[in-house]
Amino acid sequence: MMSYSKVYEGWKADPEAFWMETAEAIDWVEKPSRALNDDNAPLYEWFTDAKVNGCYNAVDRHVEAGNGDRLAIIYDSPITGTQEKITFADLQTRVASLAGALAAKGIEKGDRVIIYMPMVPQALEAMLACARLGAVHSVVFGGFAAHELAVRIDDCKPKAIIAASCGIEPGRVVDYKPLYDGAIEQSKHKPEFCIIFQREEAVAELVEGRDVEWYAAQDGVAPADCVPVEGNHPAYVLYTSGTTGAPKGVVRPTAGHLVALNWTMKNIYNVDPGDVFWAASDVGWVVGHSYICYGPLIHGNTTVVFEGKPIGTPDAGTFWRLISEHNVRSFFTAPTAFRAIKREDPKGEFRKKYDLSCLRALYLAGERADPDTIVWAQDLLGVPVYDHWWQTETGWTIAGNPAGIEALPVKIGSPTVAMPGYDVQILDEGGNPVAVGELGAIAIKLPLPPATLPNLWNAEERFKKSYLSTFPGYYETGDAGMIDEDGYLYIMARTDDVINVAGHRLSTGAMEEVLASHPDVAECAVIGVADDLKGQLPLGFLCLTKGVNRPHADIVKECVALMRDQIGPVAAFKLAVVVDRLPKTRSGKILRAIMVKIADGQDFKMPATIDDPAILDEIREALATLGYPAS
Ligand code: COA
Ligand code: AMP
Repeated sequence: MMSYSKVYEGWKADPEAFWMETAEAIDWVEKPSRALNDDNAPLYEWFTDAKVNGCYNAVDRHVEAGNGDRLAIIYDSPITGTQEKITFADLQTRVASLAGALAAKGIEKGDRVIIYMPMVPQALEAMLACARLGAVHSVVFGGFAAHELAVRIDDCKPKAIIAASCGIEPGRVVDYKPLYDGAIEQSKHKPEFCIIFQREEAVAELVEGRDVEWYAAQDGVAPADCVPVEGNHPAYVLYTSGTTGAPKGVVRPTAGHLVALNWTMKNIYNVDPGDVFWAASDVGWVVGHSYICYGPLIHGNTTVVFEGKPIGTPDAGTFWRLISEHNVRSFFTAPTAFRAIKREDPKGEFRKKYDLSCLRALYLAGERADPDTIVWAQDLLGVPVYDHWWQTETGWTIAGNPAGIEALPVKIGSPTVAMPGYDVQILDEGGNPVAVGELGAIAIKLPLPPATLPNLWNAEERFKKSYLSTFPGYYETGDAGMIDEDGYLYIMARTDDVINVAGHRLSTGAMEEVLASHPDVAECAVIGVADDLKGQLPLGFLCLTKGVNRPHADIVKECVALMRDQIGPVAAFKLAVVVDRLPKTRSGKILRAIMVKIADGQDFKMPATIDDPAILDEIREALATLGYPAS
C-alpha cells in the first residue's frame, strides 16, 4: 500500500518525474515535453510547451469516454425551491452553445470576461464557455458592491460581462443590474457587451446595444469547439485581498491547474469518478473555482451547486438533507458554517432526521478551524473531519490530510501535513528556519507546484514585492505558524492586514481607505476582532477632522453605510467608534495589533516604541462602549 511519506519523498526526490507522471491523467492536445520551466526564475511555469483545453478536460472528454449520461451538476436551491440535474452530455451542449454565442460576438482566446453571478449552474457554464474559447474569466463575488466590480473591470479590462439579473439572499433579492450598471459607469474601461441571465425573481431591463439576454445571445449561433491553449495560458484571474485597497489579480495557469486539481480529487478528497462531491462555498471564491467548478468536473465527479445558507434556508438541517438526498461522498465547507449550525441546533436534532451513511469525510478550510467546532462536527457526523490549509494564490491544498493515499491521524488544531509539491518551512525574521515547535513566518520553498500563481495580472513587480522579496528563494504565505515534531503544520495568524470574516478574506487596508474618504474622518484604523460565529469581524476607529461636532452616532452610521456601498455587504462592517487619537509608535506607525489584543481581552507586552501609552486607556474605553472585550 502507498504511504503518504513515500509519495511525498518520491516527489521531493524527483519533482519533474512526479509531475510528468501526474500529468498523464490529463487529455492533452500536445503533451508537455517537460514539467517545470525555470527559464525565468524566480518566476516559474509548468507544462509551458503543452497544448490543452480546460473545458475539454472538464466536460467533453467524459462524454467521449461514454459517460455522457452521468450527472455533472446537481443544482439544489432551497432559497428558490428549485432543483436541476445536468448530465455531462447536457453540459457539453449548453457550454458549447454559450461559447458559440461569445465567439459570435467576438470573444477570442486571451480576451477577458467578467462573470458576476450567484450560485446557479449558469455560473459554471459561463466559466467553462470561457475556458472552451481560451478566454480568461474573472468571477466577481455577488456580495461585492459596484465600486469593487469597477476596480476589477479597470484592472482586467474585460471585453464582456456575463451577469445574472439577481442573486437571492435570505429575506431579500439582490438586484444585480444597478451593481453592474454602476460599475460600468464608474470604470474607465467599458466592456463591449453584456450577456444577462434573467431570473424570474428580478428581471433586469436590458440596455440596448450593450446587453443581450442569455438565450437570445445563443439563438441561431453555431456551437463552439474547444480551442487549444498553451500550458501557461491563464485560465482565469481571481481577485483577492491584499494589504492595500487594490485587490490582487491572482493568475491561474491552465495546464498546471488541470494536473494538480485532478490529483487532489482522489488523493486528498478521496473520491472516484462518478462519486458526488460537494463544496458549499460560492463561485466567487477560490474554493468555488477549484471545487465547485473545475476539480470535480475534471475528475469526472458530480458537483453540487448549492444556493442557500447553512441555516435559515429553511433550517439548520439543509446540509444534511443535501448530503443524504444527493449521496454526497466528500463534503467541503468553512468552519463558520458549522458554527452557525451549532449555534442554531447545538444538539444536532436535525441531523437525526437524515441517513448520512453515504458521507465519508468532512473537509474544512478558508479560516482557522477551532477545536470546538471540529469536535462537534466529528461527534455529529461520525466521520473524519479534515482541516486543510490553502489560499487563493495556490488554488489547492498546501497542507492537508492525504486521505486518498493514507488517512493520517488527525491532530485537532492542525491541517496536517504538506502536500507533494510544497516544501513548507517556518522562518524567523532573518529568513532562517526556526527549531521544531517554534513560531515563525510560514514560507514555501520555490518553485511552487503546478496550478499556483505564476504572477499577478499585469503586476509583476507587485507579485515579486508581495510574495518573493521578504525571503529570497521562498514564497511568503502571509500566515504565521509552526511545525511539530511529526511534521504537522499549525496555522496561527496572518502576518499582514488581511482578516477573515465568515471564511471571506478581506483587507483592513481597503476598509481604511473607504473610511478615510468620509469627509469628517481625518484618520482611521480597522482591525479584526474575534467573533464566535464569523471568526473575525472588522471594527473601525475613527478620528474626526478638527471642528466637526456632529453627533458621533450619525458619523458611525454613515461610515457603516459607506462601507456597504463601496465594498459591499460581504465586508460585514457594522462596528465603529470615534476616538480622539490612535496609538502609534514614535515613528507614526499605528499599533493595530495592540488594539486587537485589547479588543480580544488578551495580554500583551507594551511595545518599547509606543509614543503615548495613555492612549491605550482611551482605546479600552472606546471598545467597552461596543461591548469589547466580549465576556
Ligand atoms: N450576494 C449578496 N450579498 C451577500 C452575498 C452574496 N453572494 N453573500 C453574503 N451576502 C451578504 C449577506 O446577506 C449579509 O448581508 P446583511 O449584512 O444584509 O445581513 C452580508 O453579506 C454578510 O454575509 P455573511 O458574512 O456571509 O453573513 P450571514 O450572516 O449572511 O451568514 C453564515 C453567516 C455563517 C451563515 C455565512 O457566512 C456562511 O454560510 N458562510 C460560509 C462561508 C463560506 O462558504 N465561505 C467561502 C470560503 S470556503
Ligand atoms: P483565501 O485566499 O480566501 O482562501 O484565504 C486564505 C487565507 O485564509 C490563508 O492565508 C489563511 O490565513 C486562511 N486559511 C485558509 N485555510 C485555513 C486553515 N485551514 N486554517 C487556518 N487558516 C486558514
